[in-house]
Amino acid sequence: MKNKIISVVLVAMMMVASLAGCGSSSSSKETLVVGTNAAFPPFEYIGDDGNPDGFDVALIKAIGEKIGMDVQIQDMEFDSLVSSIGGKIDVAIAGMTVTEERQKTVDFSDPYYEAVQAVIVPKGSAIATADDLKNCKIGVQLGTTGEFIADEIEGAEVSAYNKAIDAVNDLNNGRLDLVIVDKNPAAVFGTQYADQVDVIDGSAFDFEAEFYAIALPKGNTELAEKINNAIAELKKDGTYDSLIAKYIEE
Ligand code: ARG
Repeated sequence: MKNKIISVVLVAMMMVASLAGCGSSSSSKETLVVGTNAAFPPFEYIGDDGNPDGFDVALIKAIGEKIGMDVQIQDMEFDSLVSSIGGKIDVAIAGMTVTEERQKTVDFSDPYYEAVQAVIVPKGSAIATADDLKNCKIGVQLGTTGEFIADEIEGAEVSAYNKAIDAVNDLNNGRLDLVIVDKNPAAVFGTQYADQVDVIDGSAFDFEAEFYAIALPKGNTELAEKINNAIAELKKDGTYDSLIAKYIEE
């Protein structure tokens, strides 16, 4: 019995010793746990190796380097991101638009990208102006600005999906008249289903410009300042532009 206990203790000690020898766990750096929703190409998606990739993922990793923190990405539902900040995650980067409603719960970094909603329609659809959106069956991603816009459209029957691509699939199945989603993912889905859909620019419907920023814990001005400085430096040293060129075809 005694021997058994000793060997258990020995094994435990060896495990601790081997852990201490492993790269990242021996790092003295603090970890920044970053929430995202990796179903929003080209900003975040699951790469071929099964890990989150995309513009936002690359940007937050570059920010992590600048501020001396290890970045750990946590993929979750978009709709849970804001309420998880300060709990399961430290910050969120998810092509997230700055809105007054969200600002009641979180702070935002300086904006890093300007976007607008776009409309995806079946090829040959007659939808062309804001008036044409009325009384339509509209698909959106749950909790997004696309959903907030759709909810304001007269007579619209809005279906909210966990992933925008699920809305696009229902559009292709004939269950929806249109999908409202941010312009860059709309362009990606438009290319993916080029023989089935058309993408119409948000300007045709007078949709307003939106600004993506990193969502931060409310009141943490120290972290906000570090992240904002890092964004400014990455813009200055060319990293930001090279990430745009790598991930975003405009
Ligand atoms: N920009 C929109 C919003 O903030 C949609 C963002 C969706 N992002 C995502 N990773 N699924 O509501």
